[in-house]
Amino acid sequence: MLDATVNRLTPHLGTEVIGLDLTKPMGGNAFADFRKCWHDSHGLVVVRDQKLDQDSHVEFARQFGKLFGEDDMFQESTHRYLMPGNPAVYRVSNKVKDGEPQGRSKAGNYWHSDVSFRKHPAQASLLYAIEIPPVGGDTLFADMQQAYASLSDAMKNVLDGLEAVHDFAVAAASSGTYSKDQIIETDFDGANRFIHPVITTHPETGEKALFVNPGFTAGLVGFEATESKAILDFLHAHSTRHEFLYRHRWAVGDLVIWDNRSLMHHAIVDYEGVGERYMHRVTVIADQPRA
Ligand code: OGA
Ligand code: MN
Repeated sequence: MLDATVNRLTPHLGTEVIGLDLTKPMGGNAFADFRKCWHDSHGLVVVRDQKLDQDSHVEFARQFGKLFGEDDMFQESTHRYLMPGNPAVYRVSNKVKDGEPQGRSKAGNYWHSDVSFRKHPAQASLLYAIEIPPVGGDTLFADMQQAYASLSDAMKNVLDGLEAVHDFAVAAASSGTYSKDQIIETDFDGANRFIHPVITTHPETGEKALFVNPGFTAGLVGFEATESKAILDFLHAHSTRHEFLYRHRWAVGDLVIWDNRSLMHHAIVDYEGVGERYMHRVTVIADQPRA
């Protein structure tokens, strides 16, 4: 058991944890307990009231696995948003200082699973709120394990064995996601495209999840484009049913840790002209997704 106050956020998805200080090393089995709580919450934990400097954020994240910025790099267009001198810290912000963006603005304002277009996508993403607007800038999460579990056996059988192409170009091409100056040609050279199973099995829990997302999934392997679109449109509508969602309203000091293997997420960019938002994200690298 975690030595902290633990509150469920919805019946299936998400736990709020109050009373931990993640700048201190977790002794004994505490990290194993923490990870179990995370898995039991379908991969979403909100740790409140943290005071994380970059090093303690990175050190805590490293307990989940290897990190983007250290053992692999994101697509090139994101590199300018990495913390100078500390590339494991990716800055998400609408702030601009002396003409230079202080982070990626409008990051993830579409349903997606981080970096799903790579052979090794994101495992945990750990997003830490340093400044938030007075209102707005919430983040939505969709439980892809619950979405899978609630399909009929007939539909599960249809999907069994299917594969999908994930491609960074899908997000880059959709309007309102990336402006031209945020894209670099090398993002399209093939390293940011990969085929994954449509149904994946979580390597740590054995739970099955749907692993397709509107942000990066280009199509189903072997299907005509119209066939693929019909199936993917259904899966996207199904997996974003209200009962599979949690909407996070941020407070300064929140560290939100989500599992990209079992969730999609969507940033709500409704705070333009309302206030400044500044966050640090540390991202753990996953094993190759398996059926
Ligand atoms: C991300 C992301 C959501 C947000 O950092 O991966 O999608 O609300 N951000 O900023
Ligand atoms: Mn994201």
